[in-house]
Amino acid sequence: MGRLQKILIPLLGLVLAFWFYSARENFKPEMLQGKRVIVTGASTGIGEQIAYHLARMGSHILITARTEAKLQKVVRRCLELGAASARYVSGTMEDMAFAQHVVSEAQASLGGLDMLILNHVGASYFGFFDGDVEHVRKLLEINFLSYVAMTTAALPMLKESEGSIVVVSSMAGKVGFPFTVPYSATKFALDGFFSSLRQEFSIQNINVSITLCILGFIDTDRAVRAAAEVLREVPAPRDECALEILKGAALRRRELYYRYSSTRLPLLLRDCAAELLDYLVRSRYRLPAAPGTPRPPL
Ligand SMILES: NC(=O)c1ccc[n+]([C@@H]2O[C@H](COP(=O)([O-])OP(=O)(O)OC[C@H]3O[C@@H](n4cnc5c(N)ncnc54)[C@H](OP(=O)(O)O)[C@@H]3O)[C@@H](O)[C@H]2O)c1
Ligand SMILES: *[C@@H]1O[C@H](CO)[C@@H](O)[C@H](O)[C@H]1NC(C)=O
Repeated sequence: MGRLQKILIPLLGLVLAFWFYSARENFKPEMLQGKRVIVTGASTGIGEQIAYHLARMGSHILITARTEAKLQKVVRRCLELGAASARYVSGTMEDMAFAQHVVSEAQASLGGLDMLILNHVGASYFGFFDGDVEHVRKLLEINFLSYVAMTTAALPMLKESEGSIVVVSSMAGKVGFPFTVPYSATKFALDGFFSSLRQEFSIQNINVSITLCILGFIDTDRAVRAAAEVLREVPAPRDECALEILKGAALRRRELYYRYSSTRLPLLLRDCAAELLDYLVRSRYRLPAAPGTPRPPL
């Protein structure tokens, strides 16, 4: 025991020192200069802000969502802000062929890809699970399956560039959340797929990073409209959120928590006091929402 401790304690110290040192690497905006990046769900919200940050850093940007008029505006703004180039493709992620088409557009117009930022979410309701199985299937296609399709299509280019995949998820993808059952299910699915894929990349020496982003309540229009009245929480600013996502991505982190205090810290309870965490999650809500109200998810 004594000898084991003599070895273990210095070893632990070394591991911690290494971890600390490697975690200290600093983000510099130049890291994203000239990089070719796809951002999905970039017509509004967090995705739009990610596009603007990338533009300021001088990236080549390809954005996508359904609403063409909004995408045109975002592209114009990106060019004003200094993007190396900016373009859009409009269409719906309900359609896997469209998801793959976005990736081939990057191949055709940018000649490759350095970063794939998967951020879009389909509309869902905010309320008790209403038993609509068809809605769950559709949401899985938009929020999950299209992420898989785009990743698969982009992988050859990402291997070539030693690039990065960024998956925007939520606290609701790490712990059960009431009133967003279908949404939460799609976010858990992302964790399963991408965490497993990361393991295989590691085994196969595939140098493509995967950053899973665990977000708390963010002040995007749709989230605020859906939840501001029922959540006892002040939403965090979307532009800061977008920047933190890009920092985590550029530093090739496995997971990114924003804000740290309302995501990472409560999640520490998950393995040792799961019921306490469940209680804390429930206590964030002011009152049970009316069932079936069609509202977008968190
Ligand atoms: N805001 C929060 O509090 C919060 C919290 C945790 C996690 N998140 C995550 O952060 C990400 C961004 O959220 P947000 O609040 O910025 O959302 P948002 O403002 O509602 O933006 C969603 C984006 O997805 C696009 N979209 C919706 N349905 C689509 C479809 N069928 N096909 C293609 N694109 C579609 C929308 O554009 P169109 O309508 O033009 O298609 C829009 O650009 C999501 O993954 C979300 O789960 C957000
Ligand atoms: C993986 O790719 C990144 C970005 O190109 C590079 O900085 C890093 O050294 C690579 N790691 C390995 C093990 O090749």
